[in-house]
Amino acid sequence: MTDTNDISRIANGFSKLSKAEKLKATASIFPDAARVEAEMNSFNHPDAARQKIFDEFSENTITNYYFPYGVVPNVIINGKSYMMPMVIEESSVVAAASKSAKFWSTRGGFHAEIVDTRKLGQVHFIWNGDKQKLIDAFPALKAELMEQTQHITANMQKRGGGILDVELVDMTAYEPGYYQLKASFETCDSMGANFINSCLEEFASILRNFCEDREDFSGSEKQADVIMSILSNYTPDCLVRVWVECPIEELGSFEDGKITADEFARKFAMAVKVATVDTYRATTHNKGIYNGIDSLVLATGNDFRAVEAAGHTYASRSGKYSSLTYIDLSNNTFKYVLEVPMALGVVGGLTALHPMARRSIEMLGNPDARELMMIAATAGLANNFGALHSLTTSGIQKGHMKMHLLNILNHFEASETEKVDAVEYFKHNKVSFNSVRSFLIAYRENILNHG
Ligand code: MEV
Repeated sequence: MTDTNDISRIANGFSKLSKAEKLKATASIFPDAARVEAEMNSFNHPDAARQKIFDEFSENTITNYYFPYGVVPNVIINGKSYMMPMVIEESSVVAAASKSAKFWSTRGGFHAEIVDTRKLGQVHFIWNGDKQKLIDAFPALKAELMEQTQHITANMQKRGGGILDVELVDMTAYEPGYYQLKASFETCDSMGANFINSCLEEFASILRNFCEDREDFSGSEKQADVIMSILSNYTPDCLVRVWVECPIEELGSFEDGKITADEFARKFAMAVKVATVDTYRATTHNKGIYNGIDSLVLATGNDFRAVEAAGHTYASRSGKYSSLTYIDLSNNTFKYVLEVPMALGVVGGLTALHPMARRSIEMLGNPDARELMMIAATAGLANNFGALHSLTTSGIQKGHMKMHLLNILNHFEASETEKVDAVEYFKHNKVSFNSVRSFLIAYRENILNHG
């Protein structure tokens, strides 16, 4: 039998092979190579020109990996209605966001505001010398950093952005001679990673020259040893706030009138408190928020890893990982708020290249980056509200398993007729892996016995 882990079977120089050769070589590690090759190939786009766009996004591509693209209609944010695209493989996420969007659409919708849009980057360097001399020389260095990066920043400045500030940060308490140039940027409608990194690499060379040329520096002071220059994905000042708000009594009742608005609000607030004080729950609570945010961010061709990394760091800003949301029930009002850092773009990167990312942005009415931040944060709050709503009333499994039913049916290779009848049957019965298996066994036996 072929050992699929025997990577020595893949020749050196894999990256130099043609796409078809790479696919063949990869399929060859499977016992049923020809079938695997055909199957993988079937996920390539029939239009070669279109496929080429996807192939060129990354490296060693052999096929595509499909994810569902869903939409949440009628999401009201600041009085404007959006059709929200979501790319996600997990069942229930789009349904939860839709349910929340509908719930809040008759209670004022979602409200959102941008707190700030400042992004950060650092040049980390070692400089051994008289600290005070470096501090004294910094204003002159800063002027050079600003001036000598004009060729990179001119266009961004025309759009209202550019380098906002540069600070010298003394890190010598952690490591002898370790300093940073910590810069902040406004990158307007682009996510800005390339712009920021280009500025930082230019800073690094300006810094080296500056130290070499500086007359009052001597010996080791003439040498700035640059370790690295890179943006920070932690953007606590690129922050968006989104909230829902209504008088508690307008929440209505839940579970066929068994739970009153007051009980719901109290229990919901307690669930938020749990996520605030307990790190185990906070992780799951925030994961649910990123179910929504990531889906929207992915649908618009943005970097969901960057957005998530920033969010989890922000959730730890007090020194303890905690909830990204908070609640206020004062004045008989239910006000539920999510605050997240979010570095997004609507120009450049995949947003322009991926045909579906372009469509998503168009579907959202061609928002600028600030508006997209508010939409993505809303997706997060909608999902989180949906999750807490279920968790504190019916429990999560009832709705989740109903949504998961089709996955289980597909697992058992149910026919279309079996699916239709199963969906009907499980409207009134509890869904579980075993109950679906039993249903199909009984269903198939019945057909065998009675034709
Ligand atoms: C599942 O993907 C997300 C939830 O677990 C989130 C939560 O518990 O808040 C439902």
